[in-house]
Amino acid sequence: MKIAVAGKGGVGKTTIAGTLARSLARSGHEVLALDTDTNPMLGVSLGVGPETTDLLVAVRQALQDGEVEHEPTAEGMAETFGADAPDGVRLVVATRIDRFDSGCLCCGVTPDQLLREFETDGRVVVCDLEAGVGTLMRLEEGQADLVVVVANPTAKSIDVARRALAIAESKAAVLLVANRVSGPEDVESIRSALGRDPEIIVPEDPVIAGADRDGEAPIDAGAGAPGVLAIKELAERLVPTAA
Ligand SMILES: Nc1ncnc2c1ncn2[C@@H]1O[C@H](COP(=O)(O)OP(=O)(O)OP(=O)(O)O)[C@@H](O)[C@H]1O
Ligand SMILES: [Mg+2]
Repeated sequence: MKIAVAGKGGVGKTTIAGTLARSLARSGHEVLALDTDTNPMLGVSLGVGPETTDLLVAVRQALQDGEVEHEPTAEGMAETFGADAPDGVRLVVATRIDRFDSGCLCCGVTPDQLLREFETDGRVVVCDLEAGVGTLMRLEEGQADLVVVVANPTAKSIDVARRALAIAESKAAVLLVANRVSGPEDVESIRSALGRDPEIIVPEDPVIAGADRDGEAPIDAGAGAPGVLAIKELAERLVPTAA
């Protein structure tokens, strides 16, 4: 199963992708976490720490600068440019792709093409997308099984979520997550603006904010924190189809 996490900048895509990946791994799934954001921070939310995240980014930069052997296959990339995260999650940072012309899988394809290349084979691929709807627009039917659209109770993020839902709906199953919710009026503002109920509601959670401040994974900072529990609920919802 391939899951892509989309939404406006700063809505919590990386937080949700990282915690979702860890939760799925804890419930026994083999998980590949794919960071296709140009500012790749998924490693931090997964709990590999800022140093490993920086290292992965540096490796990809060295690759682009011609200092490292290329990897023509997706699995080779996971091997060579990946890192092990807690609970057995394998993280691949596939960003800093500036040379769209090269056509080389490891350094010249767009995130949507890359997402297509990774086989699932019983594995769950969780992909943290760039902010906005650019990748979703290029996504072809079948490249992702599910697009998780994240919205905050703000007009701008709801507007991006509306466009993301409209684009993704024709290509994959979609699921709406309301994140950073402080009360029922927040849920209502999202529901009334989008004309649908969010399937998962993640509360504003100081444990999540604190984890980010400390460069820690939310699931390590507080596995029982309300925000983390809500993302675990999202993972549980996906479990029947994720095997
Ligand atoms: N439920 C929550 N409660 C409190 N803080 C949160 C919550 N979700 C996310 N945050 C905080 O919001 C900030 C942005 O989150 P995150 O980096 O996951 O967003 P993003 O959508 O990936 O951003 P970008 O578009 O820049 O990649 C972080 O500081 C994170 O800790
Ligand atoms: Mg992010």
